Amino acid sequence: MTKLILSERAARIGIAPNAAAKARAQALAQSGRTVVDLTSGEPDFDTPASIKQAAIAALAAGDTKYTAPAGTLDLRNAISEKLARENGLAYPPQQIIASNGGKHVIYNAFAATLRTGDEVIVPAPFWQSFPAMVSSNDGTPVLLAGLREDGYKLTPARLEAAITPRTRWLILNTPSNPSGAVYDANELAELASVLRRYPHVWVLLDEIYEHIRFDDGSREHLLTLAPDLADRTLIVNGGSKPFAMTGWRIGYGAGPAELIGAMTIVQSQSTSAPSSIGQAALAAALRGDQRFVRESVAAYRERRDLLLDALRDIDGLHYIAPQGAFFAFVDCSALIGSTTVSGSRILSDVDFVEYLLYEHGLAVVDGTSFGVPHHIRLSIVAGRDEIVEGARRLAAAVAALVRNGAAENTLDTPVTEAA
Ligand SMILES: Cc1ncc(COP(=O)(O)O)c(C=O)c1O
Repeated sequence: MTKLILSERAARIGIAPNAAAKARAQALAQSGRTVVDLTSGEPDFDTPASIKQAAIAALAAGDTKYTAPAGTLDLRNAISEKLARENGLAYPPQQIIASNGGKHVIYNAFAATLRTGDEVIVPAPFWQSFPAMVSSNDGTPVLLAGLREDGYKLTPARLEAAITPRTRWLILNTPSNPSGAVYDANELAELASVLRRYPHVWVLLDEIYEHIRFDDGSREHLLTLAPDLADRTLIVNGGSKPFAMTGWRIGYGAGPAELIGAMTIVQSQSTSAPSSIGQAALAAALRGDQRFVRESVAAYRERRDLLLDALRDIDGLHYIAPQGAFFAFVDCSALIGSTTVSGSRILSDVDFVEYLLYEHGLAVVDGTSFGVPHHIRLSIVAGRDEIVEGARRLAAAVAALVRNGAAENTLDTPVTEAA
């Protein structure tokens, strides 16, 4: 057989760890085991009917053609209105691009701007696609450990120490996947003060979980606190998380016109534009009644509390309550070194995740995949029953471990090497 030779960019990346964990869970379920799947970053709600209706209306009206490469003017106007109404930010449609998901916005940004060896600061724990997208676009991810004692957040001192003349971007994801951390107004202002000293560093502000908040803290936007950073900031957002539109693949970016123009060229030569029907649906979602967002967040909060209540009683697991996003990020370092009933030793979070899956039928993702070993990530947006059963299995699995010389729980969470 002819050997397939991968491109350098493809050789640098692998399948997303949550997708791999989900595939393992599905394979086990197909073999007849019951598996509780808490790997997913996807709401179990359906897209609201009013949004589906807008898509049907678009089809009926013949909105079935290629759109402008940056997206329809109607959608970009709806995004511009959203940014003004909800965030107090002025972005005309020329400074906005719609793409096939927020992920594609980020990919376009790196494809348009990174040169070989350019550095991108990625605070850990991180959404694994961040370093993968940097690497596949010839950049070098600079992974910065977030400590549990800092709420897994990037501190101004760590940011400043990581900036070099080659730094092109800082990625800030708030609320964060996987930690659920939210940067408050003070923390954002302090990071902005550092960034002001380094005008060559751009900010990729991923706000895809903007509305998924469980705290009453400040909602002030980085760019209303530091408007001077607007000429080097790309805001990333989309329909997937707030409107349960993950399968529609529509996200958007807002930033300086020159950057949006460069990203539009990249997009025009790869996907031409996102789907015309999905764009009509997102425009309706942004302009429509926001009740679904409020109600779904209330449901996620209840599920988060259900999971946290159960975790609180499990000796050996430690967490900081997520303030937003779809996950609980749980420190399992106290369990490393323990032994399972079948006699195998848990030497890492990866071992612990395997043990949970194969011996207790619970699928979660290891912290190593997010740059912070000795942790696991659990979904709080799975169905209520799955969360209750998942927590029960987790408690049973931990209780069955023999703690022979288990490592002390450590607050110092080392980061993995560059992906
Ligand atoms: C932190 C973060 N950013 C961006 C995305 C991209 O979402 P989408 O491409 O569905 O808009 C995700 C999805 O899981 C995410 O977790």
